[in-house]
Amino acid sequence: MISIALFASGTGTNALNLLDKVRSYPKLKICCLIIDTDTSPLPEIVKAKYPDLAVHKILPNMELDKKDGRNDHEARVIEVLAGHEVKWGMLAGYMRIIGPRLLNYFGMQRLVNIHPSLLPSYTGLHAFERAFADGVKESGITIHLVDEGMDTGPILLQRSFPRLPTDTLSDFIQRGKDIEWELYPEILKQLNQSALGA
Ligand code: GRF
Repeated sequence: MISIALFASGTGTNALNLLDKVRSYPKLKICCLIIDTDTSPLPEIVKAKYPDLAVHKILPNMELDKKDGRNDHEARVIEVLAGHEVKWGMLAGYMRIIGPRLLNYFGMQRLVNIHPSLLPSYTGLHAFERAFADGVKESGITIHLVDEGMDTGPILLQRSFPRLPTDTLSDFIQRGKDIEWELYPEILKQLNQSALGA
C-alpha cells in the first residue's frame, strides 16, 4: 500500500477530486490531509464526505521569522506525516514554498504539485489570470515534482488547452480546471502501476 498525503490551503476542488478518484486504485491510500490555513472550507466538507480521513490543520507560527517559521512548520508537518508513514505527497493548491526539511522527507522526488500554466511559463501566483491578461492563444496545466524553487521541478505531465476568442476569464479558468481534474488523477494511476518508481 502506498500512503499519500494531500496538502491544500484553499477551495480544494483538486483535493476532493483526488479523494474521490483514489478509491479506484487498490494499491493507494490517501491517509491524511494537511491544511495550513484557518479559512479553507475543506475540513468541514471532508469531515462530512470522508469521515475516516485524518485532517490535520497545521498553522504557521507567525511570531517566527520567515526562515524559522518555515522550519518550525515543516517540522510539525513531518511529525504528522511520519505518524501516518506517508510515502508520497500531492500538493493541491498548497500556498507555501516547500523548504529543504520537507523536501528531504520526500527524498526530493516523491512530492508532486499541480500548476495552472504551461510551465516554465507563468510560475507563481495567479497564473490563469496573468496568461489570460497577456492574451495567450493557449495555456495549460502542469504536474511536476517539487524542488526548492517556485514551480520549477521536473515536469511529469503537461496538457495544453486553447483560449477561444469568445472566452471570458471565467470560461478560460473553467477550461483549465476541467483539465486539472482529469490530469492530476493520472498521477494516481501511474503510482498504482508503480510507474513513478513508487
Ligand atoms: C489549482 O489551480 C492548482 O493548479 C493550483 O492551485 C489551484 C487550487 O485549486 N496549484 P483548488 O483549491 O484545488 O480548487
